[in-house]
Amino acid sequence: MYVGGDRIINIIADRSTPYMAGNEKTCLRFVCTFVLSAGFIVLIYWATFQPRHIQATVGSAALSNLTVSNLTVSYRLNVNVTMINPSGRVGVHYDALYARLSLRDDDGGSAFLGPAKVISPEAFYQPRRSDNLVTVVFDGMTGVAVASDVATEVAREIKAAAAVGFELAVDARVRYKFGFVMVRAKPRTRCSLRIPVKPERRRRRGVDGVLSPGHRCIVKY
Ligand SMILES: *[C@@H]1O[C@H](CO)[C@@H](O)[C@H](O)[C@H]1NC(C)=O
Ligand SMILES: *[C@@H]1O[C@H](CO)[C@@H](O)[C@H](O)[C@H]1NC(C)=O
Ligand SMILES: *[C@@H]1O[C@H](CO)[C@@H](O)[C@H](O)[C@H]1NC(C)=O
Repeated sequence: MYVGGDRIINIIADRSTPYMAGNEKTCLRFVCTFVLSAGFIVLIYWATFQPRHIQATVGSAALSNLTVSNLTVSYRLNVNVTMINPSGRVGVHYDALYARLSLRDDDGGSAFLGPAKVISPEAFYQPRRSDNLVTVVFDGMTGVAVASDVATEVAREIKAAAAVGFELAVDARVRYKFGFVMVRAKPRTRCSLRIPVKPERRRRRGVDGVLSPGHRCIVKY
């Protein structure tokens, strides 16, 4: 950098000399060399670290005490999400995780249920080629008001002991560290869950259901 600066000063100082054309050529060559080396360094960095987007899957989910009455849904849902860093070159710092849940039916109808009560761990460091289990707990036992079409759909699914559709959204704030360069990103994860509910039993309040593992989520940056 310092040498380059000296050269620029030399070029400017030489402007009064009769060899202007030659100096302009030198200047152009200098700028070209600089741009090419900067580009090359960026390319080398990229090739070395190969940052790859994080991935997520739902390992398991347990739904309990799901009821619908008077346009109010009450439920409890625990979800185990696996966050995966597939990169063999770079670790990921998760600075914050936020999760929220919606009901989602086949016709595209949806109803927001609320943010997670617990998300654990909320911040962690993920080394290269590793995964972490994140536990998310939604507690809707006090009841959440929903639109009548969604309430009707959920009531029908409970009665038929069918599957109830949810959408889990996990938004993250992450940092990648490439040597001395820090890159920040906000990946958004969307997992669609269809949890089969067990037939309703008289004595209990609400229905339960478990989701088998392997639901891949969509991650967007
Ligand atoms: C989530 O994982 C933990 C630890 O493996 C386990 O104890 C818990 O039962 C799981 N929760 C669900 C909802 O599957
Ligand atoms: C929730 O469901 C469980 C069974 O899964 C039941 O034992 C419990 O009484 C229910 N809780 C409420 C508040 O209905
Ligand atoms: C149903 O909800 C409405 C409005 O929220 C309320 O006025 C009504 O009393 C509720 N009925 C029952 C049976 O809870």
